[in-house]
Amino acid sequence: MTNSSPLRWGILAPGGISTQFATGLQSAANGTLVAVGSRNKERATAFAQKFGATNVHDSYEGLANDPDVDAIYIGSPHTYHKEHAILCMRAGKHVLCEKPFAINASEAAEMIAVAQETGMFLMEAMWTRYLPVHEKIRELIAAGVIGDVRKLFADFGFRMGTVQPDHRLFNRDLGGGALLDVGIYPLSLASSLFGTPTRISSMANLGSTGVDEETAFILGYENGEMALCSSDIQLQTPWEAQITGTAGSIKIHTPWFFPSQFTLKIDNTETIYTLDYKGNGYTHEAEEVARCIAEGKTESAVMPLTESLTIMQTMDQLRAQWGLKYPME
Ligand SMILES: NC(=O)c1ccc[n+]([C@@H]2O[C@H](COP(=O)([O-])OP(=O)(O)OC[C@H]3O[C@@H](n4cnc5c(N)ncnc54)[C@H](OP(=O)(O)O)[C@@H]3O)[C@@H](O)[C@H]2O)c1
Repeated sequence: MTNSSPLRWGILAPGGISTQFATGLQSAANGTLVAVGSRNKERATAFAQKFGATNVHDSYEGLANDPDVDAIYIGSPHTYHKEHAILCMRAGKHVLCEKPFAINASEAAEMIAVAQETGMFLMEAMWTRYLPVHEKIRELIAAGVIGDVRKLFADFGFRMGTVQPDHRLFNRDLGGGALLDVGIYPLSLASSLFGTPTRISSMANLGSTGVDEETAFILGYENGEMALCSSDIQLQTPWEAQITGTAGSIKIHTPWFFPSQFTLKIDNTETIYTLDYKGNGYTHEAEEVARCIAEGKTESAVMPLTESLTIMQTMDQLRAQWGLKYPME
């Protein structure tokens, strides 16, 4: 790849979210899908045909060693993120790794150490951070429009229905539970606003498979800021995020589901901002990776590796409060 040629992508594990990413990549100005790697050749072939990739691999190792690929998107279940990210970086590939970055902070630290050792770019695919709505919100907050930001109210909960013990959301072997799957969205937003919490109060209800199906957590920060968050996989909750400051507030509409609007409220005056995303929204994270790599960066300022690490540390602390350990820990 030269600085002006599109980044050549490979997709590792062609499942649900990889389909979204590949769709988003089709609208990216600076990237193109070249290769797909699956544990199963038919799945890799079908995915490659659907999205126009030329190189098909029936193993992740084959994809990692494909000389036509510059960067690999990792769409496997949480429990494999570390192994797959390290496999790709050691093979000389840049990596965009799905959220949660890993299962715990210790795994995240290992991934970051390999990125530093190999000099490869590494980033967590917290796709909402790269959207125009969030860029604009960061800009308004930095300009002091809502004053000192003091509180975040945010939730992400949906109802799976019948418990499917083998499904990755219920299966402890695959890092199941609400926090790592959806709680990470409010948590990541809180982290971007306030940093690392100094106090954590939380509770969770573990379901029949032993994973957190319902959670609530309050995070406290150095200067007294608070984030009140919840996550669920058996309850549909409002899906709201309200950032409140001393001079006003920002409410993000459908914050985790293709957000393109937010309302700024100062006193009693409301202003609705609409900022459309490109493609299906996942385009922005792909473009951020290519932009950073073209500029010679090894991480993104929008989602720094230290922050991916501290978010994992907070999730470790929350799970410790609930007595939830995964079998591989
Ligand atoms: N950013 C987002 O909006 C978003 C949304 C949903 C999920 N995610 C994240 O993306 C990751 C994957 O979620 P998903 O919903 O796409 O999962 P999925 O549909 O089940 O796909 C996961 C893929 O991983 C591969 N895989 C490798 N080992 C596996 C194993 N032991 N069990 C099951 N699959 C295995 C499979 O591909 P092959 O067998 O073909 O190789 C499978 O298609 C998770 O970490 C999740 O948190 C992110």
